[in-house]
Amino acid sequence: MLLVILYALFVSSASLRPLEKRVDFQHGVRSSTLNDRPIVGILSQPGEPAPKSMSYIAASYIKWVEAAGARVIPILYDMTEEEVRHIFSIINAVLIPGGGANLTPGHQFYDTARLLIDLAIDANDNGDYFPVHGTCLGMETLCIVISQNYSILGSFDAEDAAAPLLYTDAADESHFFRSLPPDVVRELQNSPIAMENHGKGLSMAAFRDSSKLSAFFDVLSLSIDKSGNPYVSTLESHKYPVTATQWHPEKNAFEWTNSVHIPHSPEGIRMTQEVANFFVSEARRNLHKANSVSEEDDLLIYNWIPHFTGKHDASGHAEETDFEQAYYFEKTNHGTWRRSQL
Ligand SMILES: *[C@@H]1O[C@H](CO)[C@@H](O)[C@H](O)[C@H]1NC(C)=O
Repeated sequence: MLLVILYALFVSSASLRPLEKRVDFQHGVRSSTLNDRPIVGILSQPGEPAPKSMSYIAASYIKWVEAAGARVIPILYDMTEEEVRHIFSIINAVLIPGGGANLTPGHQFYDTARLLIDLAIDANDNGDYFPVHGTCLGMETLCIVISQNYSILGSFDAEDAAAPLLYTDAADESHFFRSLPPDVVRELQNSPIAMENHGKGLSMAAFRDSSKLSAFFDVLSLSIDKSGNPYVSTLESHKYPVTATQWHPEKNAFEWTNSVHIPHSPEGIRMTQEVANFFVSEARRNLHKANSVSEEDDLLIYNWIPHFTGKHDASGHAEETDFEQAYYFEKTNHGTWRRSQL
């Protein structure tokens, strides 16, 4: 009889004990509640493949966060400050994608990216846990915004140059790499599964020379370009939940152009998934939300339909585009912004 009672107690306590939540992050507020309906805001930009007067987000970024259990709200680079602030109050993280947008003040992409980064830093300073990740151009944007130096980037020979990550000592202690499964961290080091595709980049010297940048970020890895020059490939803030990769974690699983060499090995695909899991787990720590379901509905990416931008020309002569699919945004033609926000 006693054994039965003890067994019952054991079973009930075991089944009632909640799964341990990850609250080991050293900076930011420890939130005991996690958000199981995270929404990531992704910034659009003008330029190819978007038609003139429109902006785009490559669908790979959207699939990347969706595959890890988040939904997406696009943040149009040409929104008003009021619109951006409103969306910020609803989303749980910001992703600044790669691309070729102009990174100088007065250009709306830069100004909107800067507003989002400032809002995120303010939110974190005020006890809100708000993550930001920048990929490629997104990392370059973070470097310029944080350093306040528009010429901090140098030129690198790293177009179509998947590369291994050379970890610094800071990588061992980093939130980012400690959160990834060890086999993924090892694979990123041992084989070139990190897709690099950039002509600009951050040198270690430029990083060290900028007291603002080095007060904000730790360098977690370097990579080597095709001419043998090292550049910073991974950054993490030691004060804020802000990470940046010069490499593209989203491409391995979702981009298939043959014009560049994206590593599609099982290890590459697993890396795509695990880095997404990391970023979305960060977003789960934020509790922003919309005031109503219909407000959320009006903003979610489901209001748009992706275009098959990577479709091959039958003649085989057309240039391949970088993206398999892309979403296009025409601000003025999309009445829901007006209807629901202003
Ligand atoms: C900006 O960064 C570049 C590259 O490191 C450096 O040469 C330049 O002196 C910096 N400018 C300022 C104003 O700090």
